[in-house]
Amino acid sequence: MMAFERLLFEISSKFVNIPASEVDQEINDAIRKIVEFLGIDQSVFGEFKDNGHELHISHGYTAHIWPENPGIILNSLAPNITLRLKRGEVVNLSRLPEDLPPSWKEERLYAERVGLKSCVGVSLKIGGSVLGVIIFESYRRYQNWTEASIQHMRLLAQVFAGALERKQTDLKLKKAFDKIQELSERLKAENSYLKETISSENRYSHIIGQSRAMGEVLARIEQVASTSASVLLMGETGTGKTMLAQLVHTLSRRSKKTMIKVNCAALPANLLESEFFGHEKGAFTGAVSKKIGRFELAHDSTLFLDEIGELPLDLQAKFLRVLDDGEFEPLGASRSIRVDVRIVAATNRDLGHMVQEGSFRSDLYYRLNVYPVQVPPLRERKEDIPEMVWSFVRQLSKSMGRDIRRIPEKGMEAMVRYPWPGNIRELKNVVENAMISNQGESLWLHPPEPPVFAEREGLSHEEIQRQHILATLKKTQGRIKGPEGAAEILMLKPSTLYSKMKKLGISLPKR
Ligand SMILES: Nc1ncnc2c1ncn2[C@@H]1O[C@H](COP(=O)(O)OP(=O)(O)O)[C@@H](O)[C@H]1O
Ligand SMILES: [Mg+2]
Repeated sequence: MMAFERLLFEISSKFVNIPASEVDQEINDAIRKIVEFLGIDQSVFGEFKDNGHELHISHGYTAHIWPENPGIILNSLAPNITLRLKRGEVVNLSRLPEDLPPSWKEERLYAERVGLKSCVGVSLKIGGSVLGVIIFESYRRYQNWTEASIQHMRLLAQVFAGALERKQTDLKLKKAFDKIQELSERLKAENSYLKETISSENRYSHIIGQSRAMGEVLARIEQVASTSASVLLMGETGTGKTMLAQLVHTLSRRSKKTMIKVNCAALPANLLESEFFGHEKGAFTGAVSKKIGRFELAHDSTLFLDEIGELPLDLQAKFLRVLDDGEFEPLGASRSIRVDVRIVAATNRDLGHMVQEGSFRSDLYYRLNVYPVQVPPLRERKEDIPEMVWSFVRQLSKSMGRDIRRIPEKGMEAMVRYPWPGNIRELKNVVENAMISNQGESLWLHPPEPPVFAEREGLSHEEIQRQHILATLKKTQGRIKGPEGAAEILMLKPSTLYSKMKKLGISLPKR
């Protein structure tokens, strides 16, 4: 028996410091060594699960006789043995089936079927309750198990159970750690997002809309805000789509959470996907850490998709699935995430036309277009202009430390007359420029010179814009960027002007 003790000692010392991931392998290995050492045929280790009602075999080694699968539940196969083990008793049967009490019918059947000659089972108690068992079986010859070897077996089971318990604790710790890390990432993401939002937009305190055109828009928005329906805001750039999206959110039950925004035109297609859906660490080259997507951030809130017309076609399909099922998988993740997100989308493009052209999926279009809101251009609500001008003057006065009392009639009239191709954003810029360039209590307003054609009947807005840009380019001799360039005069970003020109079919005059 000395040699057997040495083997047990060797095995136990192996278990002192093994990592959780190797525990199962080591237990199977240890069992194999013991089976080989004792010259028996099989040994299994099992744990009581389901409040002790089921004895699951989790580890084992079979020399060559009976292929017993791990995962097997012993209760039905050997109910009487299981019951005794559960009570913490030793089951020691040297001669089978003769040693079996007559009433142990299932065990008799089993022993005869598989030719089991001897078996011993020892249960493992920790803190008074039975957690598991170790069983040794012999098929080729009868075995006599001494009290001493039974003690050793008990020790062995203890070692296994200790290792398994450590493994469970390790796994629990790891799970808890992952959860904490995910939470802290989510907080980080939400935090930096909040800061972004506070420092950029969100500063308007009220919306100006006494005109009938705007009154209708506001009524439509009020009607839909409290529901969860998708809203599609359509209108030229600068008409207030972003502001109205925020209003939908503010008037909804989701307003306790921050509205999450994505500008579909601001990122290249490949980055846009992980911006929306997030990715796991290592999902692709450059994915150095896990990223939580905007869809997940927007859970229980509103997701504002600005410039939805720029959404690449291949992403549109993935989008449709989230909108329909509320489910998606982050890049590189095997799990899918469920979200409850309200969608508000905005575009200055004609999505219906894009559908005909094949550059926008019709199914996504219909899904988004359940509640369309057409935001009118400023030139169709000129009656709001004076109040808007005054409102911006007051806002800017505060931040610039100015005190403006008067706006000469002529300037205001010119402001009302001007067609505002850049809408309210352009109007705001004109007011701001005027306040920077003239001091005093009177504000002299000079909207850009309206092109003569603008007043002519029958010209489309596109044509007016085209003429306006052409006239400006003529003035700057084709120069777009830099001071006094066309972009600056038109108060547009050079890139915006370029894409406008492309859309309107304007090429630069040759110099
Ligand atoms: N009805 C309005 N009253 C007051 N400010 C407005 C109104 N509509 C738009 N604005 C302001 O004009 C600017 C452009 O509006 P924005 O919502 O960004 O337009 P869009 O998203 O359609 O390009 C913003 O500063 C916004 O606050
Ligand atoms: Mg906008």
